[in-house]
Amino acid sequence: MPGTTPIEILDGGDALALDLPVRGRRRFHAIWLRDNAWDEATRAPGNGQRLITLGDIPADTRIASARIEAGQIHVRFEPEGKDVAFDLGWLAGHAYDGKVERGIGWTAPEIETWDAMLGADIPIADFTAVGSDREALAHWLHGVRRFGFGKLTGGPVENGALFKVADLFGYVRETNYGRHFEVRTEVNPSNLAYTGLGLQAHTDNPYRDPVPTLQILYCLENSAEGGENMVVDGFRAAERLRDENPRGFDLLTRWCARFEYAGSSGVCLQSRRPMIELAPDGELVGIRFNNRSAAAITDVPFEDMAGYYAAYRRLGEIIDDASMEVTFKLAPGESFIVDNTRVLHARKGYSGAGSRWLQGCYADKDGLRSTLAAIESEERKAA
Ligand code: FE2
Repeated sequence: MPGTTPIEILDGGDALALDLPVRGRRRFHAIWLRDNAWDEATRAPGNGQRLITLGDIPADTRIASARIEAGQIHVRFEPEGKDVAFDLGWLAGHAYDGKVERGIGWTAPEIETWDAMLGADIPIADFTAVGSDREALAHWLHGVRRFGFGKLTGGPVENGALFKVADLFGYVRETNYGRHFEVRTEVNPSNLAYTGLGLQAHTDNPYRDPVPTLQILYCLENSAEGGENMVVDGFRAAERLRDENPRGFDLLTRWCARFEYAGSSGVCLQSRRPMIELAPDGELVGIRFNNRSAAAITDVPFEDMAGYYAAYRRLGEIIDDASMEVTFKLAPGESFIVDNTRVLHARKGYSGAGSRWLQGCYADKDGLRSTLAAIESEERKAA
Protein backbone atom coordinates (compact mmCIF):
# COMPACT_ATOMS: atom_id res chain seq x y z
CA MET A 1 0.00 0.00 0.00
CA PRO A 2 1.27 3.48 -0.80
CA GLY A 3 2.65 5.22 2.21
CA THR A 4 3.23 2.12 4.26
CA THR A 5 6.95 2.44 3.66
CA PRO A 6 8.43 5.74 4.71
CA ILE A 7 9.24 8.30 2.11
CA GLU A 8 13.00 8.47 1.85
CA ILE A 9 14.63 11.78 1.09
CA LEU A 10 17.78 10.97 -0.83
CA ASP A 11 21.08 12.71 -1.48
CA GLY A 12 20.44 15.65 0.80
CA GLY A 13 17.08 16.40 -0.85
CA ASP A 14 18.12 15.97 -4.49
CA ALA A 15 15.60 13.12 -4.82
CA LEU A 16 13.02 11.07 -2.94
CA ALA A 17 11.73 7.51 -3.05
CA LEU A 18 8.19 6.37 -2.32
CA ASP A 19 5.79 3.50 -2.94
CA LEU A 20 3.33 4.03 -5.78
CA PRO A 21 0.15 2.22 -6.81
CA VAL A 22 0.99 -0.75 -9.08
CA ARG A 23 4.50 0.54 -9.84
CA GLY A 24 6.04 -0.07 -6.44
CA ARG A 25 8.95 1.91 -5.09
CA ARG A 26 10.18 4.65 -7.41
CA ARG A 27 12.62 7.54 -7.14
CA PHE A 28 12.03 11.08 -8.41
CA HIS A 29 14.48 13.97 -8.62
CA ALA A 30 13.67 17.23 -6.85
CA ILE A 31 14.18 19.24 -10.05
CA TRP A 32 11.85 16.90 -11.99
CA LEU A 33 9.14 17.15 -9.36
CA ARG A 34 9.41 20.91 -9.11
CA ASP A 35 9.31 21.30 -12.90
CA ASN A 36 6.16 19.15 -13.02
CA ALA A 37 4.27 20.97 -10.32
CA TRP A 38 0.61 21.65 -11.14
CA ASP A 39 0.03 24.62 -8.86
CA GLU A 40 -1.54 27.73 -10.39
CA ALA A 41 1.71 29.66 -10.37
CA THR A 42 3.43 26.96 -12.42
CA ARG A 43 0.65 25.83 -14.78
CA ALA A 44 -2.19 27.86 -16.28
CA PRO A 45 -5.41 26.52 -14.72
CA GLY A 46 -7.32 26.69 -18.01
CA ASN A 47 -5.10 25.13 -20.65
CA GLY A 48 -2.45 23.52 -18.44
CA GLN A 49 0.40 25.30 -20.19
CA ARG A 50 3.53 25.90 -18.15
CA LEU A 51 3.86 29.51 -17.01
CA ILE A 52 7.50 29.43 -15.97
CA THR A 53 10.77 28.41 -17.60
CA LEU A 54 13.32 26.10 -16.08
CA GLY A 55 15.41 29.20 -15.44
CA ASP A 56 12.74 30.37 -12.97
CA ILE A 57 13.39 27.29 -10.82
CA PRO A 58 16.53 27.52 -8.65
CA ALA A 59 19.27 25.17 -9.86
CA ASP A 60 19.85 24.08 -6.25
CA THR A 61 16.19 23.07 -5.74
CA ARG A 62 15.91 20.34 -3.13
CA ILE A 63 13.25 18.53 -1.18
CA ALA A 64 13.09 19.76 2.41
CA SER A 65 10.25 17.51 3.54
CA ALA A 66 7.50 15.27 2.18
CA ARG A 67 4.39 13.56 3.55
CA ILE A 68 1.52 11.52 2.11
CA GLU A 69 -2.07 12.48 2.77
CA ALA A 70 -5.30 11.47 1.00
CA GLY A 71 -3.68 10.01 -2.12
CA GLN A 72 -1.26 12.85 -2.56
CA ILE A 73 2.32 13.49 -1.64
CA HIS A 74 2.96 16.99 -0.30
CA VAL A 75 6.48 18.15 -1.01
CA ARG A 76 8.23 21.23 0.33
CA PHE A 77 10.85 22.65 -1.99
CA GLU A 78 13.72 24.84 -0.82
CA PRO A 79 15.13 27.41 -1.31
CA GLU A 80 11.75 28.62 -2.71
CA GLY A 81 9.91 27.54 0.43
CA LYS A 82 7.19 26.21 -1.89
CA ASP A 83 4.69 23.46 -1.03
CA VAL A 84 3.34 21.35 -3.92
CA ALA A 85 0.98 18.36 -3.86
CA PHE A 86 1.32 15.53 -6.40
CA ASP A 87 -1.32 12.93 -7.07
CA LEU A 88 0.15 9.47 -6.48
CA GLY A 89 -1.70 8.05 -9.49
CA TRP A 90 -0.19 10.73 -11.72
CA LEU A 91 3.29 9.95 -10.39
CA ALA A 92 2.70 6.23 -11.01
CA GLY A 93 1.73 7.01 -14.60
CA HIS A 94 4.80 9.15 -15.16
CA ALA A 95 7.47 7.25 -13.22
CA TYR A 96 10.78 7.14 -15.06
CA ASP A 97 12.84 5.18 -12.54
CA GLY A 98 13.51 1.54 -13.33
CA LYS A 99 12.76 1.63 -17.03
CA VAL A 100 14.03 -1.51 -18.74
CA GLU A 101 16.47 -1.26 -21.60
CA ARG A 102 14.70 -1.91 -24.89
CA GLY A 103 16.46 -3.38 -27.89
CA ILE A 104 17.35 -1.47 -31.04
CA GLY A 105 14.31 -1.11 -33.29
CA TRP A 106 11.67 -1.40 -30.57
CA THR A 107 8.19 -0.18 -31.36
CA ALA A 108 5.67 1.72 -29.25
CA PRO A 109 3.15 -0.38 -27.29
CA GLU A 110 0.22 0.97 -29.33
CA ILE A 111 1.78 -0.46 -32.48
CA GLU A 112 1.53 -4.02 -33.74
CA THR A 113 3.59 -5.07 -36.73
CA TRP A 114 2.09 -7.47 -39.27
CA ASP A 115 2.56 -9.39 -42.48
CA ALA A 116 0.27 -11.26 -44.88
CA MET A 117 -1.06 -13.28 -41.94
CA LEU A 118 -3.03 -10.19 -40.93
CA GLY A 119 -5.43 -11.27 -43.67
CA ALA A 120 -8.91 -9.92 -43.18
CA ASP A 121 -8.16 -8.39 -39.79
CA ILE A 122 -7.50 -5.02 -41.34
CA PRO A 123 -9.11 -2.00 -39.71
CA ILE A 124 -12.23 -1.49 -41.78
CA ALA A 125 -15.26 0.65 -41.10
CA ASP A 126 -18.30 2.11 -42.77
CA PHE A 127 -17.91 5.68 -43.96
CA THR A 128 -21.31 6.77 -42.66
CA ALA A 129 -20.81 5.07 -39.28
CA VAL A 130 -17.46 6.74 -38.54
CA GLY A 131 -18.91 10.07 -39.64
CA SER A 132 -21.82 9.92 -37.21
CA ASP A 133 -20.63 7.79 -34.29
CA ARG A 134 -17.64 8.92 -32.21
CA GLU A 135 -17.20 5.45 -30.77
CA ALA A 136 -17.07 3.86 -34.23
CA LEU A 137 -14.61 6.55 -35.32
CA ALA A 138 -12.40 5.92 -32.29
CA HIS A 139 -12.44 2.17 -32.93
CA TRP A 140 -11.35 2.66 -36.53
CA LEU A 141 -8.70 5.28 -35.70
CA HIS A 142 -7.37 2.98 -32.99
CA GLY A 143 -6.90 0.29 -35.63
CA VAL A 144 -5.22 2.73 -38.01
CA ARG A 145 -2.81 3.75 -35.25
CA ARG A 146 -2.10 0.10 -34.40
CA PHE A 147 -1.61 -1.27 -37.90
CA GLY A 148 -0.64 1.88 -39.81
CA PHE A 149 -3.47 1.63 -42.30
CA GLY A 150 -7.21 1.20 -42.58
CA LYS A 151 -10.03 1.00 -45.07
CA LEU A 152 -13.40 2.72 -45.34
CA THR A 153 -16.35 1.38 -47.29
CA GLY A 154 -19.70 2.79 -48.32
CA GLY A 155 -18.61 6.35 -49.03
CA PRO A 156 -20.12 8.64 -51.67
CA VAL A 157 -18.95 8.26 -55.25
CA GLU A 158 -18.33 11.90 -55.97
CA ASN A 159 -15.48 14.15 -56.90
CA GLY A 160 -13.66 15.38 -53.77
CA ALA A 161 -15.19 12.82 -51.39
CA LEU A 162 -11.67 12.08 -50.11
CA PHE A 163 -11.67 15.38 -48.25
CA LYS A 164 -14.49 14.06 -46.09
CA VAL A 165 -12.16 11.27 -44.98
CA ALA A 166 -9.54 13.81 -43.91
CA ASP A 167 -12.26 15.82 -42.17
CA LEU A 168 -12.94 12.85 -39.89
CA PHE A 169 -9.76 13.50 -37.95
CA GLY A 170 -7.70 16.36 -39.30
CA TYR A 171 -6.61 18.44 -42.21
CA VAL A 172 -5.35 18.02 -45.74
CA ARG A 173 -1.71 18.83 -46.36
CA GLU A 174 -1.43 20.69 -49.64
CA THR A 175 1.67 20.11 -51.77
CA ASN A 176 2.97 21.06 -55.20
CA TYR A 177 0.66 18.31 -56.52
CA GLY A 178 -2.23 20.40 -55.23
CA ARG A 179 -4.74 19.90 -52.45
CA HIS A 180 -5.37 16.51 -53.99
CA PHE A 181 -4.05 14.53 -56.95
CA GLU A 182 -5.71 12.37 -59.57
CA VAL A 183 -4.51 8.80 -60.06
CA ARG A 184 -5.58 7.68 -63.55
CA THR A 185 -4.00 6.90 -66.89
CA GLU A 186 -2.55 9.86 -68.69
CA VAL A 187 -1.23 9.96 -72.22
CA ASN A 188 2.01 11.70 -71.31
CA PRO A 189 2.67 10.69 -67.71
CA SER A 190 5.08 12.91 -65.81
CA ASN A 191 4.99 10.48 -62.92
CA LEU A 192 4.86 6.68 -63.06
CA ALA A 193 1.96 6.64 -60.57
CA TYR A 194 -0.32 7.78 -63.39
CA THR A 195 0.37 4.90 -65.79
CA GLY A 196 -0.93 1.32 -65.95
CA LEU A 197 2.31 -0.25 -64.73
CA GLY A 198 2.55 -1.99 -61.41
CA LEU A 199 4.59 -0.15 -58.81
CA GLN A 200 6.98 -1.50 -56.19
CA ALA A 201 5.72 -0.92 -52.68
CA HIS A 202 6.94 2.46 -51.51
CA THR A 203 6.36 5.31 -49.15
CA ASP A 204 5.26 8.53 -50.82
CA ASN A 205 7.31 11.66 -51.19
CA PRO A 206 10.45 10.78 -49.21
CA TYR A 207 11.98 13.83 -50.91
CA ARG A 208 9.88 16.08 -48.68
CA ASP A 209 11.05 17.21 -45.29
CA PRO A 210 8.92 16.45 -43.41
CA VAL A 211 7.19 13.77 -45.45
CA PRO A 212 3.38 13.70 -45.52
CA THR A 213 2.60 11.39 -42.64
CA LEU A 214 -0.76 10.13 -43.93
CA GLN A 215 -2.02 9.39 -47.40
CA ILE A 216 -5.66 8.89 -48.34
CA LEU A 217 -6.57 7.16 -51.61
CA TYR A 218 -10.23 7.25 -52.59
CA CYS A 219 -11.71 5.15 -55.38
CA LEU A 220 -14.24 6.66 -57.78
CA GLU A 221 -14.00 4.15 -60.66
CA ASN A 222 -12.37 0.73 -60.85
CA SER A 223 -13.59 -1.39 -63.72
CA ALA A 224 -10.14 -2.22 -65.12
CA GLU A 225 -8.68 -5.69 -64.69
CA GLY A 226 -6.16 -5.82 -61.85
CA GLY A 227 -5.10 -2.61 -60.19
CA GLU A 228 -5.42 -4.03 -56.69
CA ASN A 229 -3.89 -2.05 -53.86
CA MET A 230 -1.26 -3.65 -51.72
CA VAL A 231 0.30 -2.60 -48.42
CA VAL A 232 3.41 -3.80 -46.61
CA ASP A 233 4.35 -3.02 -43.02
CA GLY A 234 7.71 -1.28 -43.32
CA PHE A 235 8.28 -1.73 -39.60
CA ARG A 236 7.91 -5.51 -39.93
CA ALA A 237 10.29 -5.43 -42.91
CA ALA A 238 12.80 -3.47 -40.82
CA GLU A 239 12.42 -5.96 -37.96
CA ARG A 240 13.13 -8.83 -40.34
CA LEU A 241 16.24 -7.11 -41.69
CA ARG A 242 17.41 -6.35 -38.14
CA ASP A 243 16.94 -9.95 -37.04
CA GLU A 244 18.72 -11.53 -40.01
CA ASN A 245 21.37 -8.88 -40.66
CA PRO A 246 21.98 -6.58 -37.68
CA ARG A 247 24.92 -4.85 -39.37
CA GLY A 248 22.90 -4.11 -42.50
CA PHE A 249 20.06 -2.75 -40.35
CA ASP A 250 22.57 -0.59 -38.51
CA LEU A 251 23.94 0.81 -41.78
CA LEU A 252 20.48 1.76 -43.06
CA THR A 253 19.65 3.50 -39.78
CA ARG A 254 23.00 5.20 -39.29
CA TRP A 255 23.58 6.70 -42.73
CA CYS A 256 21.33 9.00 -44.68
CA ALA A 257 19.94 8.21 -48.08
CA ARG A 258 19.00 11.01 -50.43
CA PHE A 259 15.76 11.51 -52.27
CA GLU A 260 14.80 13.93 -54.99
CA TYR A 261 11.90 14.91 -57.21
CA ALA A 262 12.41 17.48 -59.92
CA GLY A 263 9.94 16.14 -62.47
CA SER A 264 7.79 19.25 -62.73
CA SER A 265 8.70 22.75 -63.80
CA GLY A 266 9.76 24.91 -60.88
CA VAL A 267 10.01 22.00 -58.43
CA CYS A 268 13.24 20.60 -56.95
CA LEU A 269 12.47 18.73 -53.76
CA GLN A 270 15.44 17.14 -52.00
CA SER A 271 15.93 15.42 -48.67
CA ARG A 272 18.70 13.68 -46.75
CA ARG A 273 17.27 11.15 -44.32
CA PRO A 274 17.81 7.47 -43.44
CA MET A 275 15.72 4.71 -45.03
CA ILE A 276 15.10 3.29 -41.56
CA GLU A 277 14.80 5.98 -38.91
CA LEU A 278 15.32 5.37 -35.21
CA ALA A 279 14.72 7.70 -32.30
CA PRO A 280 17.84 8.36 -30.19
CA ASP A 281 16.77 5.56 -27.81
CA GLY A 282 16.42 3.02 -30.62
CA GLU A 283 12.67 3.24 -31.25
CA LEU A 284 11.70 2.47 -34.82
CA VAL A 285 9.96 5.64 -35.98
CA GLY A 286 10.09 5.85 -39.76
CA ILE A 287 10.64 4.19 -43.11
CA ARG A 288 11.51 5.91 -46.37
CA PHE A 289 11.59 3.62 -49.36
CA ASN A 290 10.93 4.69 -52.92
CA ASN A 291 13.03 3.54 -55.86
CA ARG A 292 11.60 6.20 -58.18
CA SER A 293 12.81 9.10 -56.12
CA ALA A 294 16.04 7.68 -54.68
CA ALA A 295 18.88 10.04 -55.50
CA ALA A 296 22.62 9.30 -55.47
CA ILE A 297 23.63 8.22 -51.98
CA THR A 298 26.71 10.22 -51.06
CA ASP A 299 26.79 10.17 -47.26
CA VAL A 300 27.86 6.57 -46.70
CA PRO A 301 31.61 6.12 -46.20
CA PHE A 302 33.44 4.14 -48.90
CA GLU A 303 34.13 1.33 -46.42
CA ASP A 304 30.42 0.92 -45.67
CA MET A 305 28.91 1.46 -49.14
CA ALA A 306 28.99 -2.19 -50.29
CA GLY A 307 27.38 -3.33 -47.05
CA TYR A 308 24.87 -0.50 -47.29
CA TYR A 309 23.84 -1.54 -50.79
CA ALA A 310 23.56 -5.19 -49.73
CA ALA A 311 21.23 -4.15 -46.89
CA TYR A 312 19.26 -1.85 -49.20
CA ARG A 313 18.84 -4.73 -51.67
CA ARG A 314 17.79 -7.12 -48.91
CA LEU A 315 15.27 -4.66 -47.50
CA GLY A 316 13.76 -4.43 -50.99
CA GLU A 317 13.60 -8.22 -51.24
CA ILE A 318 11.82 -8.43 -47.90
CA ILE A 319 9.37 -5.72 -48.99
CA ASP A 320 8.72 -7.60 -52.27
CA ASP A 321 8.20 -10.92 -50.45
CA ALA A 322 4.60 -12.01 -51.03
CA SER A 323 4.41 -13.20 -47.41
CA MET A 324 4.60 -9.54 -46.35
CA GLU A 325 1.74 -8.08 -48.38
CA VAL A 326 -1.91 -7.48 -47.71
CA THR A 327 -3.86 -6.93 -50.92
CA PHE A 328 -7.33 -5.58 -51.52
CA LYS A 329 -9.24 -4.03 -54.36
CA LEU A 330 -11.11 -0.81 -53.84
CA ALA A 331 -14.63 -0.45 -55.19
CA PRO A 332 -16.08 2.98 -56.00
CA GLY A 333 -16.82 4.78 -52.73
CA GLU A 334 -14.12 2.87 -50.87
CA SER A 335 -10.88 4.37 -49.65
CA PHE A 336 -7.86 3.57 -47.61
CA ILE A 337 -5.48 5.50 -45.45
CA VAL A 338 -1.84 4.68 -44.74
CA ASP A 339 0.68 5.94 -42.24
CA ASN A 340 3.21 7.03 -44.83
CA THR A 341 6.06 6.97 -42.33
CA ARG A 342 5.54 3.26 -41.76
CA VAL A 343 3.37 1.36 -44.25
CA LEU A 344 4.40 1.04 -47.87
CA HIS A 345 1.75 0.92 -50.55
CA ALA A 346 1.69 -0.28 -54.12
CA ARG A 347 -0.60 -0.88 -56.98
CA LYS A 348 -0.65 -4.05 -59.01
CA GLY A 349 -0.54 -3.58 -62.76
CA TYR A 350 -3.85 -3.21 -64.57
CA SER A 351 -4.99 -3.54 -68.13
CA GLY A 352 -6.17 -0.67 -70.25
CA ALA A 353 -9.66 -2.10 -70.49
CA GLY A 354 -12.16 -0.28 -68.34
CA SER A 355 -11.26 2.67 -66.18
CA ARG A 356 -9.57 3.28 -62.87
CA TRP A 357 -9.86 6.60 -61.14
CA LEU A 358 -8.63 7.29 -57.66
CA GLN A 359 -8.14 10.59 -55.93
CA GLY A 360 -5.41 10.98 -53.36
CA CYS A 361 -4.44 13.52 -50.78
CA TYR A 362 -2.09 13.88 -47.88
CA ALA A 363 -2.83 14.62 -44.25
CA ASP A 364 -0.93 14.27 -41.02
CA LYS A 365 -1.06 11.74 -38.26
CA ASP A 366 -0.66 14.19 -35.41
CA GLY A 367 -4.25 15.21 -36.18
CA LEU A 368 -5.38 11.59 -36.27
CA ARG A 369 -3.69 10.80 -32.98
CA SER A 370 -5.05 13.98 -31.42
CA THR A 371 -8.62 13.16 -32.44
CA LEU A 372 -8.26 9.62 -31.12
CA ALA A 373 -6.69 10.75 -27.84
CA ALA A 374 -9.42 13.37 -27.36
CA ILE A 375 -12.20 10.81 -27.88
CA GLU A 376 -10.46 8.35 -25.53
CA SER A 377 -10.17 11.11 -22.93
CA GLU A 378 -13.90 11.90 -23.28
CA GLU A 379 -14.70 8.20 -22.87
CA ARG A 380 -12.57 7.95 -19.72
CA LYS A 381 -14.33 10.95 -18.18
CA ALA A 382 -17.75 9.51 -19.06
CA ALA A 383 -16.89 6.10 -17.60
FE1 FE2 B 1 2.34 6.20 -53.86
